[in-house]
Amino acid sequence: MSFDTEVGDIQLRNPLILASGVLGTTYSTLQRTYEAGLGAVITKSIGPRSRIGNPNPSVFALQEIRSVINSVGLANPGYSIFREDIQILNENKIPTIVSIFGENKEEFLEVLNGLKDLSVLAFELNLSCPNTEKGGTQIGTDPELVKEIVSMLRKETEIPLWVKLTPNVSNILEIADAAIKGGSDALVAINTLKAMVIDIQTKMPVLGFKRGGLSGAAIKPIGIRYVYDLYENFGDKIPIIGVGGIYRGEDIIEYLLAGATAVEIGTSLGVAYPENMIRFFQMKIKKYMKEHQFNSIKEITGGAHR
Ligand code: SIN
Repeated sequence: MSFDTEVGDIQLRNPLILASGVLGTTYSTLQRTYEAGLGAVITKSIGPRSRIGNPNPSVFALQEIRSVINSVGLANPGYSIFREDIQILNENKIPTIVSIFGENKEEFLEVLNGLKDLSVLAFELNLSCPNTEKGGTQIGTDPELVKEIVSMLRKETEIPLWVKLTPNVSNILEIADAAIKGGSDALVAINTLKAMVIDIQTKMPVLGFKRGGLSGAAIKPIGIRYVYDLYENFGDKIPIIGVGGIYRGEDIIEYLLAGATAVEIGTSLGVAYPENMIRFFQMKIKKYMKEHQFNSIKEITGGAHR
């Protein structure tokens, strides 16, 4: 039985990847989660300049639905500083995907060009953050702009480009199609859903930025639906990576059956010991594969469509 998987030409020791935004702002937390057993790690989204993000509180746990709302606002040190962290990850041979963002195409280009000489498994283009005034979902909801940015970056590097899609659209297939036409090597679905929480005692929104993005168990059925739809329409053209609400090994199997070749895990690793969570995920996948006589991850992918 093998846990290996392939995302296009990228070989991973297993399909579990640390999602961007959680435990990904320093090399040490990225290294820790990889050493705990993940197949690869994705950094927090890195932009052209250091950015403090939105006012606190910017993260709020919704324990009753095992979910989190955040309005972090793409806080990050900027690519010229974060390069050093990537270099350390390179030296320690950690398979690293770098999430990048920009407020416009020029900024995307600047960040890509500032990092593309490093040993990076792929760049994940964050075209889907709901917590900014410019960039983010403003780009990821416009198919023309998605195609333009992906094809512009495609000309600059041979490093695989993954496009992280927003669920905050009426037709995700149109955006996915634009990303594929632009030259994307994988689709990642989904980023957080636009959301809000109000404290009934203070009568105020709980987040400093008022609005935020919802992640965690509450969004898993939405992620499954999008991965299923993407696989049905584009599964023969491009690998799909499932993300959203993975808390249990069963959730990973569900994403694979929907059509994912790998999954990204964020919120649950941020609220529990990643070492324990990853061990549980692996045990559950192994048990399921044994019970259902699967010898490889590839055999599970897309199973719900057969
Ligand atoms: C944030 O930094 O606001 C979250 C990132 C994202 O949702 O893409």
